[in-house]
Amino acid sequence: MQSWHSDNPALTGAFAPVFDERDDADLQVDGLLPACLNGVFMRNGPNPQYEPGPGYAYPYDGTGMIHAMYLEDGRARYRNRWVLTRELQEERQAGHRLYNPTFAPPPQANLANTNVLRHAGRIFALYEGGCPYAMEPALSTIGPETFQGKLEGALSAHPKVDPVTGEMLALNYDLAAGTLEYLRVNASGQVDRQVQFAAPWPGLIHDIGLTSTHVVAFLCPLVFDFTRGPAAPTWEPQRGTRILLVPRECADPAQIQWIPTGPFFNWHIANAHADGGVIEAVMPWYDGYGPSARKRLELHRLRIDIGSGRVDDHMLDDQPCEFGRVNDAWLGRRARYCYVGLREPRPSETPQAGAFEAFARYDMDTGARTVYRLPAGQTACEPVFAADPDGAGEADGYILSFVHTEHDDRGRFIALDARDLAAGPVAQVRLPRRVPAGLHGSWMPTPRPQADQLRR
Ligand SMILES: [Fe+2]
Repeated sequence: MQSWHSDNPALTGAFAPVFDERDDADLQVDGLLPACLNGVFMRNGPNPQYEPGPGYAYPYDGTGMIHAMYLEDGRARYRNRWVLTRELQEERQAGHRLYNPTFAPPPQANLANTNVLRHAGRIFALYEGGCPYAMEPALSTIGPETFQGKLEGALSAHPKVDPVTGEMLALNYDLAAGTLEYLRVNASGQVDRQVQFAAPWPGLIHDIGLTSTHVVAFLCPLVFDFTRGPAAPTWEPQRGTRILLVPRECADPAQIQWIPTGPFFNWHIANAHADGGVIEAVMPWYDGYGPSARKRLELHRLRIDIGSGRVDDHMLDDQPCEFGRVNDAWLGRRARYCYVGLREPRPSETPQAGAFEAFARYDMDTGARTVYRLPAGQTACEPVFAADPDGAGEADGYILSFVHTEHDDRGRFIALDARDLAAGPVAQVRLPRRVPAGLHGSWMPTPRPQADQLRR
């Protein structure tokens, strides 16, 4: 496989791409992998196969590659594969890059690089600028997914799966058309709600909060005006941020509520829930975004009164964090615990967006914060919660992540007990080479046989 090197900071250090597709079994484990964790941890992220053109930027660019850890009875197996999109196949045939970075002149590719999620027994590589790609559990690419032809444009990279109903909900956007789409896919994988409506301005809606009554999202004043050419977005705080409340049973754009509030930016919502007539969302919050605007990144809790439109914004922690997650079984309900990647660089370390020096767990009941700081020179990715199938409590489970170790440029996979995060990893799996820092992933447990099946 052809390799190359770039000095672009988004392609160096922990973010430097890899060029091999590996299968490594019976990896060395320091500590004990919880034997209760049977399944696969998958994580997607940018990993351009061919050297990108000028303007490559994190987190917008780079063909997706999925890294998977298959866990079974305390043993670990690693596999990685590119998502074989139509555009990557064309580039492989040509033997060189054919598509340009997001903020360069066309053409652009569906990068399939942002998230990987299982719904209705199917696995999707997700990218908000194009359709999802269905993947096999063994990471071969099945192909583009349109949900029986009903998805005509892009699907959000952050649909949320309701753990109670099994529905997958998404807000999709089309910057060129200036439109948004509410999409609901039922537990059998069939689209049963699809409502298109106009956006006040062309902006990202990267993530949504799921609640029992509504989907909540934020249209921030980071404006993508492609009528001015393929330029980077502009921060236009005078527009404020619009809160978007879509009833889950929405059938008509008139039912959608827009609430104006002061300007802020968010990529992600860790969790949301409805409490009477109030929607609450917990999220990493930026007071601005872009080279000239970004000053503060904090963890905030917003309470939105549906009736009056009043918004209470409460800062939970002023230490920068991102990629907040909860136990997915608590998505859309009030979760007591929220886990984040925390920025906590030592004086000798230079923070790189999207790689974290620590994890934190926030207890929403007591306000307590528990931190695990990685050893010097190590950075981790999104903290993904893997539930202990023998536990019933919200905190019964493990935090999973890939880690990059600077001194040997190697990868590790770590598992931390969510009940005792500060104790550090209960297991570290040594990987044969670096796993580049990336974006989002999922723990996909192997379904357990039912008790009556075991007796047979
Ligand atoms: Fe994201």
